[in-house]
Amino acid sequence: MSEPLVLGIESSCDETGIGIVRGTELLASEVASSVDLHVRFGGVVPEVASRAHLEAIVPALERAVTTAGIELNEVDAIAVTAGPGLMGALVVGLAAAKALAASLHKPLYGLNHLVGHVGVDVLEHGPLPKPCLALLVSGGHTSLLLVRDITSDVVEIGATIDDAAGEAYDKVARVLGLPYPGGPVIDALAANGNPAAIRFPRGLTSPRDLEQHRFDFSFSGLKTSVARWVETQKRDGKDVPIEDVAASFQEAVADVLTAKTIDAAQAYGVHDVLLGGGVAANSRLRALLAERCASANLDLRSPSRDLCTDNGAMIAVLGAACVSAGREPSELTIGADSGLPVSEVQLRVRA
Ligand code: KG4
Ligand code: ZN
Repeated sequence: MSEPLVLGIESSCDETGIGIVRGTELLASEVASSVDLHVRFGGVVPEVASRAHLEAIVPALERAVTTAGIELNEVDAIAVTAGPGLMGALVVGLAAAKALAASLHKPLYGLNHLVGHVGVDVLEHGPLPKPCLALLVSGGHTSLLLVRDITSDVVEIGATIDDAAGEAYDKVARVLGLPYPGGPVIDALAANGNPAAIRFPRGLTSPRDLEQHRFDFSFSGLKTSVARWVETQKRDGKDVPIEDVAASFQEAVADVLTAKTIDAAQAYGVHDVLLGGGVAANSRLRALLAERCASANLDLRSPSRDLCTDNGAMIAVLGAACVSAGREPSELTIGADSGLPVSEVQLRVRA
């Protein structure tokens, strides 16, 4: 069979994404974001996100099909995010995917959003080396993954024990009076700040913590520390040097993420490191990881910024990998699973 033509649908949070790929070639990626509707609430409001998906999904689908220059009935499979994510949001994409699969008589693949973030890199850099070590950093998850096969063998070797890195960015942004989502704003401010201005704590890096949590992360102490520092400045009537705070916070996040990634790659004897998830768009994280991988003689692959944040192409390309690997499709009766573990690449039957 030639490379499979796959349509992917993503609706786990506040982006409605439709992607179309042929094998590992990207034909279209349409993303409609509802982020503007959530800004005044300081975070994603699930009901608002679900309604926005409902309104955006058909127009996005039409745009993607036009851009790709295909007919819908040419596709070999429909891939969709089955979890994890916001239940009401996931259900919209899943319902659309099921309707397409049933009416077009095409197989359905209900896939893991997090694995999609990791696998998306093949669109730009070709097949993944086996194995590779992935640092997955999104709004809801921060994990180190040993990826032996992107369609069937993903093992979590470490994860955050409290906040995800993206969540820490969003919360620190709130403390600094910055809009949601905090990541891109802090990233931009940090560019003009001094990363060594304030020494914020590096979670789970003390010798004692490393015994129990060598590959795990913790960002809630860091977030509290930033909040306290800002509070103290204000109480003492001093200015808050927002760019220095942003840069120093960002340095603490990037330092821990990259140090543990290198340690894990070396401990598992893996030569290829992969970066994925919304926070992978962060400029300091990308730069520091590149620097440390080079020093440790490890190869680093990271998707371009557009493909780091939520999109349908990452789901489409993971679907294409599943089709090529001969994986059985999912049953049409599958439900969305808001807590789908990262080790479950595909939801095949109703839980
Ligand atoms: O993966 P993603 O798009 O959605 C989830 O699956 O959660 O990640 C969203 C997260 C948000 O917390 C956002 O603040 C963060 O990614 N983010 C960034 C940057 N761009 C997005 N964090 C740091 N630096 C960035 N440039
Ligand atoms: Zn995501």
